Amino acid sequence: EKGGFASFMEKEIFDQPAAVADTLLGRSDAYGHLTLDELRISPEELASVTKIVVLACGTSAYAGSVAKYAIENWCRIPVEVELSHEFRYRDPIVDSNTLVVSISQSGETMDTLMAVRYAKEQGAKILSICNTNGSTIPRESDAVLYTHAGPEIAVASTKAFLAQITATYLLGLYLAQLRGNLFTGQIKDILADLGKIPAKIQEILDRAEEIKSLARSMQDTESVLFLGRHVGYPVAMEGALKLKEIAYIHAEGFAAGELKHGPIALIDEGKPVFVVVPSPRGRDSLHSKVVSNIQEVRARGAKTLVIAENGDEAVREFAEFLFYVPETPTLLMPLLATVPLQLFACELATVKGLDVDQPRNLAKSVTVE
Ligand code: F6R
Repeated sequence: EKGGFASFMEKEIFDQPAAVADTLLGRSDAYGHLTLDELRISPEELASVTKIVVLACGTSAYAGSVAKYAIENWCRIPVEVELSHEFRYRDPIVDSNTLVVSISQSGETMDTLMAVRYAKEQGAKILSICNTNGSTIPRESDAVLYTHAGPEIAVASTKAFLAQITATYLLGLYLAQLRGNLFTGQIKDILADLGKIPAKIQEILDRAEEIKSLARSMQDTESVLFLGRHVGYPVAMEGALKLKEIAYIHAEGFAAGELKHGPIALIDEGKPVFVVVPSPRGRDSLHSKVVSNIQEVRARGAKTLVIAENGDEAVREFAEFLFYVPETPTLLMPLLATVPLQLFACELATVKGLDVDQPRNLAKSVTVE
């Protein structure tokens, strides 16, 4: 069943070109027009939304964080992302002009279900992004946008994450189309870039050995830091989460801009630090800020492990290890930059002889609060 892979997790990482392609399939036409037929909220209602609140936990919440950057950029609607359990136990402000987007692979996560029920009581419209047909959260929602990643067996989420990010992009583009925030030509271009993502993920997978051999050389590592800015920030958080949950290695992700506000004190000789670098073709200041962050940690002895875009020469001299991902617009970059971090965690856990698919203390769906 594992198709020759050492674990379901590894197989699912390699399933990702299909997970993204299948999630995109049939949801737009050649003219860049999106049709999300399964949404049961009317276009008029969606067009009148004044605020989006994303509710999710764990990896799914990081997909929500990526969505914030894209949806705010494309639709100019404020997007808040909140952990379901935190949302539920304060007095959140939602009303009938709020669109709540829940993201859950299983559709059964109790924290998210309770948050959704609460938001619904307050009059919010609920749209759920879910990977499991007919599960509880989509059944209780006004609308559902299914991710087509296929069943995810490994406890650690991989292909569902990329499919969730893809679904949020579709939602963002659909809202931009309804509200007239983007021209059809712009939507078409972004859809074309999205359409190229599966082949680009495959290119990364074809070079898996580069990152796997790095992982094998780091078996005795006790702590790894991950930093990123902008959409690279949730990617860093996700990279850290994968490493803690399956390899039981202390890992922390943080926003690169926070370094000087505290975390830089953690850097000492040989401390491994992954840095997710945005495209040098994107906003110039963003790229150069991250390059200076790499220099800052490197100057303090860090072992810099850099994920950057093909052709980014500026990072080379500061990178102890460098993994290039194919070119794509910055907002779509998480679909590529996450993959080497998943491979790293998976290989490290595998060489440590751990149960990659069933890490200790964790369950695939958390059906208790
Ligand atoms: C991490 C992981 C968890 C889940 C979280 C939410 O690899 O799998 O953090 O993402 O428990 O689960 P769902 O998406 O099923 O609501």
